[in-house]
Amino acid sequence: MLTLDFHPAGRHFLQIPGPSPVPDRILRAMSYPTIDHRGPEFGALGLKVLSGIQKIFKTSQPVIIYPASGTGAWEAALSNTLSPGDHVLMYETGHFATLWKKMAEALGLKPEFLGLPGIEGWRRGVQADMIAERLRADTGHSIKAVCVVHNETSTGVTSNIAAVRKAIDSVGHPALLLVDTISGLACADYRHDEWGVDVTVSGSQKGLMLPPGISFNAVSKKAIEASKTAKLPRAFWDWTEIIEMNKVGYWPYTPNTNLLYGLHEALDMILGEGLDNVFARHQRLAAACRTAVDTWGLEVQCKDAAVYSPVLTGVMTPEGVDADAVRKVIYERFNMSLGTGLGKMKGRMFRIGHLGEANELTLMATLAGCEMGLKLAGIKLAGSGVAAAMENLSASGQETPRLQRVS
Ligand SMILES: Cc1ncc(COP(=O)(O)O)c(C=O)c1O
Repeated sequence: MLTLDFHPAGRHFLQIPGPSPVPDRILRAMSYPTIDHRGPEFGALGLKVLSGIQKIFKTSQPVIIYPASGTGAWEAALSNTLSPGDHVLMYETGHFATLWKKMAEALGLKPEFLGLPGIEGWRRGVQADMIAERLRADTGHSIKAVCVVHNETSTGVTSNIAAVRKAIDSVGHPALLLVDTISGLACADYRHDEWGVDVTVSGSQKGLMLPPGISFNAVSKKAIEASKTAKLPRAFWDWTEIIEMNKVGYWPYTPNTNLLYGLHEALDMILGEGLDNVFARHQRLAAACRTAVDTWGLEVQCKDAAVYSPVLTGVMTPEGVDADAVRKVIYERFNMSLGTGLGKMKGRMFRIGHLGEANELTLMATLAGCEMGLKLAGIKLAGSGVAAAMENLSASGQETPRLQRVS
């Protein structure tokens, strides 16, 4: 077995907002022997994960599973539905929205980036009224798709997708709605069908608690219709043959067998806890985390309480304090990884992940590591965030939900 000689003793605290820690149950499930991906046993596994994942996206439409990271599923969403030169409206929520826009440019699309100026836009989430206004002005319907990030992992802001759908409908615009919930799925409420999303993009390494390596496109009937005339070049990403073969549980190429074992186990865990319990647990932990940040006298990156992320909390460091220096102390002293500030937020914030398998005590350990590290980095704290978070969690009176086997 490969051992890295710089790996510290004890269990590492992987508190970045994905990949999230992989539960032992899932690691064990992934260690089953790899089987023939054309054999009968695989077909049964394929059908089970394909129907299980529909429940997570809340859709009765096909969900395509790719052996790829989330970036691949971004490309699949664009290339299956759009044609070279198509005008797409993308909303700047943060670093990941920016990367998706860059990809759209690279693919030969014409993205228009909408958003609030400066870093303000990165702190407030999608402004649906700005989308409505822009679409209203597009009387010739040159805009073919609206692309938004549901949970912006670079900031800790969870935008209101139902409001975006409403904005598009309010002006009767026919654009497709493409949503990235790579870090939101199975952490924050998400309703692909009810919210009228045409393509939802997601990935394995966040709320689903799997290692990186599989990603998803949930589609709508309208998206499948669009794919019949969309002219962007695509081969590996093409939905048509995958959807056809998925009907009997197979893929046109060699799928990621062991990650699918893991997905089967993850679905059992998430559906066994109950999606609503999973969402409530994430909300509870996020609220306690924000209490800690407030008590330290630091600022939560997200400025609008209506869109606080249940997945992660962005913590702004005081003016003149390099957030990466704080992260470095915490990593070196306490064997814990926190998310770095990305793009416009580089050095100005760090990100605390509280997603996936996280519970009260993993959060408390995480906050203890942060509090010690902040002090060691020379930051004067207003109070003990750890003590405040403990109060907050004890007061919630919530029992840990028990997992029921569902399969
Ligand atoms: C919101 C969001 N979109 C896209 C991506 C890119 O996904 P990946 O790194 O799996 O390719 C990430 C990764 O963290 C993300 O958080």
